[in-house]
Amino acid sequence: MELTYLGHSAFLLEADGKTVAVDPFLTGNSTAARAADSISPETILLTHAHNDHVGDTIEIAKRTGAKVIATYELGTWLGQQGVENATPANHGGTVAFDGGTVKLVPAWHTSSYGEDFVAPGVPAGLVVRFGGQTIYFAGDTCLFGDMALVGEEGLDVAVLPIGDHFTMGPADAIKAVRLLKAPAVVPCHYNTFPPIRQDPNAFKQMVEEQTDSTCHALAPGASLTL
Ligand code: NI
Ligand code: MN
Repeated sequence: MELTYLGHSAFLLEADGKTVAVDPFLTGNSTAARAADSISPETILLTHAHNDHVGDTIEIAKRTGAKVIATYELGTWLGQQGVENATPANHGGTVAFDGGTVKLVPAWHTSSYGEDFVAPGVPAGLVVRFGGQTIYFAGDTCLFGDMALVGEEGLDVAVLPIGDHFTMGPADAIKAVRLLKAPAVVPCHYNTFPPIRQDPNAFKQMVEEQTDSTCHALAPGASLTL
């Protein structure tokens, strides 16, 4: 299974000829490693409705027919925008897709789309089982104690925001790493906009000095093979 960082919070998962996109914000993303029209996933998983996560979802889904899994209000709204395979779900639920499953878990953040604040609902974290691996995408969130329960899912990788300002910053992300107990950690949601500037190598050093996990600070476009 290959996990590719596309910049900000966008990732591609590829295994057994199947592709999953997570939070595919590429157009307008200064760190994007790929153009939206260059990816053709069978599945798109969304953490919440903010446009730095929904991004190119509607265009990609209309072009490819991808199944789009999101929390109820966002999934329903995407259906109203013409996304044929929008699949609204909610926290605690596990939804199957082509090649894997996703379980929606809580995240502490807000969720709405655009300046008119449409598709209001709740944000989620994603526990993705795909290609023999279990990957947790925390989405945008602060630190919260129930990450210890997410850790009981038996994670191989935890993908965590470290930008601060809109999400947890590096110090709280270190506490999250201890609760999640994933052997591998991948930071995201940093260096896209001025308020979320961080040094990924400093974070990697903190993770490896202060926890039992290994940190992979992927440059946009770089992949981790699991
Ligand atoms: Ni957000
Ligand atoms: Mn965000």
